[in-house]
Amino acid sequence: MILITGAGGNVGREVVKQALTLGLTVRATFQSPGAAAKAPAGLEGVIVDYAKPETIRSALHGVDRIFLVGPASRDLSALEARFIKEVRAAGRKHVVKLSALGGRESIFPSGHRDSEENIEDSGLPYTFLRPNGFMQNLVNYHAGTIRSQNTFYGCQGNGAVSLVDIRDIATVAVIVLAATGHEGKSYTLTGGEALTNGRIAEKISQVAGCKISYVDLPPADFKKAILSAGTPEWSAEAMLDLHRFYRGGKASRVTDDVERLLGRKPITFDQFVRDYAFAFRDEKREAS
Ligand SMILES: NC(=O)c1ccc[n+]([C@@H]2O[C@H](COP(=O)([O-])OP(=O)(O)OC[C@H]3O[C@@H](n4cnc5c(N)ncnc54)[C@H](OP(=O)(O)O)[C@@H]3O)[C@@H](O)[C@H]2O)c1
Repeated sequence: MILITGAGGNVGREVVKQALTLGLTVRATFQSPGAAAKAPAGLEGVIVDYAKPETIRSALHGVDRIFLVGPASRDLSALEARFIKEVRAAGRKHVVKLSALGGRESIFPSGHRDSEENIEDSGLPYTFLRPNGFMQNLVNYHAGTIRSQNTFYGCQGNGAVSLVDIRDIATVAVIVLAATGHEGKSYTLTGGEALTNGRIAEKISQVAGCKISYVDLPPADFKKAILSAGTPEWSAEAMLDLHRFYRGGKASRVTDDVERLLGRKPITFDQFVRDYAFAFRDEKREAS
């Protein structure tokens, strides 16, 4: 039995989908009843809140392997530590943790590194998946202004990033969860090429039906914009720091971990924009 946490989220949802397709026995955890209600039919879903140990204990019953996803928040390592404490008490289970590329070099990955260190110290068998930024961030964070203003914004300058497709992360996760031999390993998951946001804008333009531009803002202006869109202060600061990391070219590294694990090249950004073209097109823009 594999426990897939964060099953209502971007990565967890895709891991569940691919694990079910392969016929694996899966239990999925959702924090919110709203997310659980949208789960695929036939899936065994349970409500787990990492801050409530009693919800974790019953979810672990009969489980051998766990895909651990935590929220990208200030509490990430503390919440995951509470979860790991319960896992330890329940026996020796292999934890596949969704982490992030970057180690101590930026705020978001540093929170993940705290959690990795706690898992290393726990004595549990583990595997760390450290993806670079997701291609799907362009849909989740930028498709709104791409459709309404033909523009997306950031402050990463000309820093190129080897974005990775969530579908590849999920395929790697399912392989690691379904096989042996990955204990104690860390995989850095990137796409096959590093692209600047200028190049990304050109590639989205090819499917959006008009020219899409990337506008690079001064960091203070970018922070003001994301705060006014409702991003909490800590997350806005962490986002700014991530763009600083990107600006310095620190996330442009291309690894071969995805190709080695999947036996094929990673999904390209060109393929990603074709598959998600619907998200970047605007009916009103196309009609005018
Ligand atoms: N975006 C990127 O480019 C990127 C790059 C590298 C690494 N990452 C890391 O990838 C991870 C997942 O990303 P994602 O896009 O899949 O995130 P997401 O869509 O926000 O999913 C996070 C999941 O965590 C669950 N969750 C939140 N708080 C919880 C709690 N207290 N107890 C139990 N479950 C809780 C949520 O459950 P509900 O849906 O039920 O509320 C949700 O399913 C994050 O840790 C992030 O730091 C992201």
